[in-house]
Amino acid sequence: MAPQAATWREAKPATIAGALTRANALPCGNWYVIGASREIGGQTPVGRSLAGTDVVVRRDTEGRLKAGHGSCPHLGAPLRDSPVVCGTLVCHWHGLALQGDAFAGWTPYPVYDDGVLVWVRLDATGGEAPLDRTVLPARPELMGSVAAVCTTVGTCEPEDIVAARLDPWHGAWFHPYSFVDLKVLDTSHGSSPDHEDGFAVDVSLEEPHRGGRAGT
Ligand code: FES
Repeated sequence: MAPQAATWREAKPATIAGALTRANALPCGNWYVIGASREIGGQTPVGRSLAGTDVVVRRDTEGRLKAGHGSCPHLGAPLRDSPVVCGTLVCHWHGLALQGDAFAGWTPYPVYDDGVLVWVRLDATGGEAPLDRTVLPARPELMGSVAAVCTTVGTCEPEDIVAARLDPWHGAWFHPYSFVDLKVLDTSHGSSPDHEDGFAVDVSLEEPHRGGRAGT
């Protein structure tokens, strides 16, 4: 296999910093991702800490998402450990049943499923003007495309994660098992109001379990 050409001279800190500044200036409407759409359902809720707020989310018997604070309003049991029984979240300490509406001091949060990710709106945490929906970039049609969500629990600076996502050069070096022949073709997107924000890359994705490359 031919060695990769070094790209460190092309990876411009100012380009990455500019993209991060533009990303941070976008409105979030107080929406936070809590998990992958396909991981939420069944008899176990998903509970996560989002920007310091414990949140629990699940689906009812109709598949509708229900989200709210992650602590039971009675004595504070962690609801992430409570079962979903016939679409109702039942606290495992003393049996308080939460249907998903406001009840006994428990307040539901707005929740939205965009088909790939599930979002929860935390107005007290976000502090922005709330939006009815998340702000999403244009995506390929779900039918005929591949979506994957990786969930890792940790403590980090969100800006560092976003900056890594906005560094198109690092993929071939930091994730060589996935990205093959990654070339950054254009970093001028977002340089004017007429340009859609984004980078253009040419890359192949390795699918190790299938023994080949998925596409270019
Ligand atoms: S702590 Fe949940 S019912 Fe008592």
